[in-house]
Amino acid sequence: MTLFDKLKIGIETLSGEETQSIGAEFARNLPPDSTVALSGDLGVGKTTFIQGMAVEWKVPDPVTSPSFNLYNIYRGKKRLLVHLDAYRLSHPEQFETLMIEDFLESPYCLAVEWPENVAGWLPIETTWLTLSIIKEDRHRIKLIEPPALKP
Ligand SMILES: Nc1ncnc2c1ncn2[C@@H]1O[C@H](COP(=O)(O)OP(=O)(O)O)[C@@H](O)[C@H]1O
Ligand SMILES: [Mg+2]
Repeated sequence: MTLFDKLKIGIETLSGEETQSIGAEFARNLPPDSTVALSGDLGVGKTTFIQGMAVEWKVPDPVTSPSFNLYNIYRGKKRLLVHLDAYRLSHPEQFETLMIEDFLESPYCLAVEWPENVAGWLPIETTWLTLSIIKEDRHRIKLIEPPALKP
C-alpha cells in the first residue's frame, strides 16, 4: 500500500514528531510543482506537517507560522517551499494581490493552511489533506477530495 493509499484511509499519529515524519514521507512522494492544501482547526498539526516536508527538502531555516507576512518562502536544497497561512485572508480576491505565482520557481511546493479562504484560487490539481485531533496527542491526517466550491 502506498502512502497515498494509506492517507486516503487516514493515518493516525501519536506525536508531533510522528506527524513530521509522515510529512517528510509525503514530501518524498510529491511531484514537483505541487500545491498542497491543509485544512483543519487551530492546533491540529498543519504547520507541524509542513515542518516535516521542509526537513525532506533540506530547508535550512526553521519553519514557523507566517505571522505578519501571510507567507514565507523557504529555499530548500531540493525544493522551494512557499508556506501560505490564509487564516487572515477574509476576501479570497486578496490571494491575487499576494502575487505568489511570481515567487514560484520550479521545483516548488505551495503549502496552504486555511485553504478554504482561498479555495477558488488554488489549482484544480491541488492535493487536499485534512487534519484533526482524535484525542490529545492522537491526530489524524487524511487525503480528501477538494471541497465543492461555492458558486
Ligand atoms: N499527533 C500529533 N500530530 C501533530 N501535532 C501534534 C501531535 N501531538 C501533539 N501535537 C502538537 O500539536 C501542536 C500542533 O501545532 P501546529 O502544527 O502549529 O498546528 P496548526 O498549524 O494546525 O495550527 C504542536 O505543538 C505539536 O507538537
Ligand atoms: Mg499553523
